[in-house]
Amino acid sequence: MVHQLLPDLQDWDVTITASDINAHFLRKAVAGLYGEWSFHNAPAWLKPRYFERCADGRYAIAPKIKKLVRFACLNMVEDVYPSLATNTNAMDVILCRNVLMYFTPRQVAKVIGNLSHALVDGGWLAVSPTEASQALYPQFSAVNFSEAILFQKNSASSHVQPILLATTPVPQFSVPAVETSLPNIAPTAPDLAAWQQEPVAAEPLPSPLAGAQTLFEQGRYEEAAATLLAALAIPTQRSPEPALLRLLAHALANQGRLADALAWCERWIAADKLDPAGHYLRAIILQERRDPEQARFSLQRAVYLQADFVLAHFSLGHLARSREDP
Ligand SMILES: C[S@@+](CC[C@H](N)C(=O)[O-])C[C@H]1O[C@@H](n2cnc3c(N)ncnc32)[C@H](O)[C@@H]1O
Repeated sequence: MVHQLLPDLQDWDVTITASDINAHFLRKAVAGLYGEWSFHNAPAWLKPRYFERCADGRYAIAPKIKKLVRFACLNMVEDVYPSLATNTNAMDVILCRNVLMYFTPRQVAKVIGNLSHALVDGGWLAVSPTEASQALYPQFSAVNFSEAILFQKNSASSHVQPILLATTPVPQFSVPAVETSLPNIAPTAPDLAAWQQEPVAAEPLPSPLAGAQTLFEQGRYEEAAATLLAALAIPTQRSPEPALLRLLAHALANQGRLADALAWCERWIAADKLDPAGHYLRAIILQERRDPEQARFSLQRAVYLQADFVLAHFSLGHLARSREDP
């Protein structure tokens, strides 16, 4: 699809990740060999254009197409995506057909929430026609095309809620593994006399950091970043809290706003030089921006500060491998 749509593909920076939970199916996908039956619904031009016939009668996908795709094992019901580290953030399109049927309704809601978090605003989700029930996708608008219904992620501004004024906790997607039944407490009539005498304690408003953290956990990165930027714009005597800068850098990175993310990450590092996580985030952003030398420098700082920082060692290994340095 990308090859068809982008005649100047070499000038684009395209990342395609293909995932499944099943290693056997992934190996089959990596092999890229298809039998005649695989083409029974495909347009006639597809096979000659993108496949080569093998001696055993099967068809191998063209290497120029295969090399565009990275294959990875992913359990969709785990909270491991979106993540900048695995390149599962700020995606434009997600094709997820005939997978939701394996999940319970609770898991479906959680998976669709996570898929929506992994998309940019306005990004597209394609599911199979049998899964395209609008009620399942509250974060999306259904858009009808002649042969398909696709779901487009609503922009953050269309579901803005006055989160800083909210007094009730906002439900999270992460659900406890075991459901406990709540005791059935019958509502009692309020004691009017007591209410009139006692001053009513106002519920404290959540701090900008707590509010932004909640938005971040809901995948509302744009609103989280806006909340933090507003808090940072208020002049104070003190230098900004590193936790604020940390969350802002992550919220920007998760939106794919890499230049802004890098600038705030550097302010975070300046505010808290000894936190290895700051150097690690800087490295991941720089890797994404194709600056492996600077990324390596930051990863080395991270492992210097925390010798058992496994992910930083792993990323250094990755960088060495891409330099063809065994
Ligand atoms: C029916 S196939 C659909 C394959 C393909 N999307 C299609 O439409 O032809 C479902 C796939 O979902 C994978 N799957 C099942 N549970 C999964 C999970 N928790 N995380 C990721 N993939 C899963 C299965 O291994 C299987 O390959």
